[in-house]
Amino acid sequence: MWFFVLGGLIAFTGKPVSSSCPVEIRPSEAVVKFGDPLIANCSSSSNQTASMGWEVSAGGTGLLYGYTSIALNITSVTDWKIKPQCFINLNDGYQCFHELPVTVYRMPDSVSLAQPHETVMLEGQEYNVQCSIINVAPVRNLSVQWYKGNKVFHVDNAFDETPLPVNKISVTNHVAHRDDDGAQIWCEAKLLQDLPPVRSESQKMIVLYAPVFHEPENKTVEIGGRSKMTLNCTAAGNPAPVYSWRFPHAIQGTKDENENQPVLTPSFELPGTYTCTARNAQGSRTKYFTVTQAKRNYTTIAALIGVFASLGALLFIVGLLTVTPQGTFSFSNTGYLPGQATSGPV
Ligand SMILES: *[C@@H]1O[C@H](CO)[C@@H](O)[C@H](O)[C@H]1NC(C)=O
Ligand SMILES: *[C@@H]1O[C@H](CO)[C@@H](O)[C@H](O)[C@H]1NC(C)=O
Ligand SMILES: *[C@@H]1O[C@H](CO)[C@@H](O)[C@H](O)[C@H]1NC(C)=O
Repeated sequence: MWFFVLGGLIAFTGKPVSSSCPVEIRPSEAVVKFGDPLIANCSSSSNQTASMGWEVSAGGTGLLYGYTSIALNITSVTDWKIKPQCFINLNDGYQCFHELPVTVYRMPDSVSLAQPHETVMLEGQEYNVQCSIINVAPVRNLSVQWYKGNKVFHVDNAFDETPLPVNKISVTNHVAHRDDDGAQIWCEAKLLQDLPPVRSESQKMIVLYAPVFHEPENKTVEIGGRSKMTLNCTAAGNPAPVYSWRFPHAIQGTKDENENQPVLTPSFELPGTYTCTARNAQGSRTKYFTVTQAKRNYTTIAALIGVFASLGALLFIVGLLTVTPQGTFSFSNTGYLPGQATSGPV
């Protein structure tokens, strides 16, 4: 166990000099727009401070004696790789420094799609869309978000380390789907937190697809119930489908009045197979309606007949039982016992 403690101590004391350097920089890191000013403070936490100073590509302060806090004041940052360092010399001759991490950024000149406005696609085919982000830095802090109808569907952010402004292209592949028909697609370049994202113009997707029925294909419809016969052939499709109907032979003549109707409520109600075809430039689909006479009707009638028949039978039996052998009707409290004249004339 002691070995581990010792090991830990060694690792701890073996840390790089800069992290134990008795200076503090405020702010601890900076994000600055190319061309903007950069201001920072470096202060010493040692009472043995001999001299301090900022060193930076565009000059610096040089070593200053008798200060425990010195300011860095750059009026315009024009170095993409700027690395300001605060040096300190202690009385015993020990020197160390601390670096201020600076991110120099540039907002993109433009963010645009390769094919803006409208694009006609065929369902099931793969398309790629390109987003160009021009003259942006640093791309390691760039994130390209792809939107489809207000939802992010792809994020691209594995860009390189260069601090210099470059152009980037983000590409997405997607398979056209009917649900995307009419949706807008766009990309957004997001550079660093707190900076507003830059959005491209949007592209409207027009997805062409063959008709698809809202309800499952092939239906059995019963007629003779209370509601009218309705045949619903409504289909989605792009372009909008055109409908044609075929009726059982006998009533084929009435066809014309119902041409190109997605929902049919014919004046006649006859059993048979009705066929509807929804068609557009992408294809056609056929739906079969099997119209049958409802069985419920027959059973109701049968039930009614049954009821009447049993009633008749009952009346007949009652009639038989209440007629006495003498041929007169007989009613008594004690009931009737066959073969016994319980209520003979007194
Ligand atoms: C630097 O220090 C000065 C004086 O202490 C203070 O007025 C200024 O706000 C500080 N600047 C930053 C960026 O911390
Ligand atoms: C920029 O990106 C790098 C690498 O992903 C990250 O370490 C750094 O914190 C980012 N800078 C800012 C200011 O967010
Ligand atoms: C619908 O009926 C037709 C003709 O009876 C048949 O060819 C077709 O396979 C059926 N479709 C479905 C999805 O059941």
